[in-house]
Amino acid sequence: MDRLRRLRVSPAMRDMVRENHVRTEELIYPVFVMEGQDICSPVKSMPGICQYSPDRLPEELDRVVKAGVGAVLLFGIPAHKDETGSGAYDEHGIVQEAIRFIKAEEKYRHLLVIADVCLCEYTSHGHCGLVKDGEILNDETLPLLARTAVSYAAAGADIVAPSDMMDRRVGVIREALDAHGFTNIPIMAYSAKFASAFYGPFRDAAHSAPGFGDRRTYQMDPANRREAMREVEEDILEGADMVIAKPGIAYMDIIRDIAEKYNIPIAAYNVSGEYSMVKAAAANGWIDEKKTVMEIMVGFKRAGAKMIITYHALDVAGWLR
Ligand code: PBG
Repeated sequence: MDRLRRLRVSPAMRDMVRENHVRTEELIYPVFVMEGQDICSPVKSMPGICQYSPDRLPEELDRVVKAGVGAVLLFGIPAHKDETGSGAYDEHGIVQEAIRFIKAEEKYRHLLVIADVCLCEYTSHGHCGLVKDGEILNDETLPLLARTAVSYAAAGADIVAPSDMMDRRVGVIREALDAHGFTNIPIMAYSAKFASAFYGPFRDAAHSAPGFGDRRTYQMDPANRREAMREVEEDILEGADMVIAKPGIAYMDIIRDIAEKYNIPIAAYNVSGEYSMVKAAAANGWIDEKKTVMEIMVGFKRAGAKMIITYHALDVAGWLR
């Protein structure tokens, strides 16, 4: 008689038949860099996460290296914001300086530096593109995104990750990178990015909440599954090397859909609100943090993700040892 419990009798048996695994090499750790000096400022809504000025970055990078995590995703918080988000493509912008710092240090140089490409942290209105009469402009924003991506590559970024959700940005960024000789810099596109309440804590961390309205005219409607495939398809046709599905937990079906349809590495973005919920419940003793986080991580793998972008990355790496 068939008894599925036979393969669950012991840890060794369960280990042997386990179908999916979480690996440290596939973790990507987001890091917030802030213009200024001697800053290590905890993000209240994200326990354990801080904003760092470049001079204090080594504390965090040492933890990354020690944990064995191989990739960081950089977000910048500039000292000044303006209408056109010029801090994003300033040669001496905060992310550009942080990248140069990392690549100049022998002990950090091996880290894969992924630079998030977006204007929202740099615009006074907090939107991901240029704004005119209350409208978020698409085509006018594209050259600025391309300029930002090129300046990150010039500073030494290994990968650029556009998160703005303007149409055609991947193609425009690819062309610009190639035109500047960065033909080997891959694009990790936030392809299926939904307009989500789960980004709340991130907007505290990155000071990027929109000053008016919301992001629903450019980020996707959470109800749409089929449309996500069109976003992914477009980005792949425009030259994306990897795609991101975001948020992660509430959108695991989207990861599965992409995995079934396309032969491209997929990153699951376990976003800020998902992190904060787990941290809050764990701090109250309502859930076991390690078990809950590892269950979420293997859930991403089971859904079909290759990489996992997560604020839990250093803890996960520690638990995997
Ligand atoms: C920038 C960006 C956001 C996130 C990543 N890049 C915020 C947003 O779209 O409002 C969210 C990440 C997170 O919540 O962890 N556009």
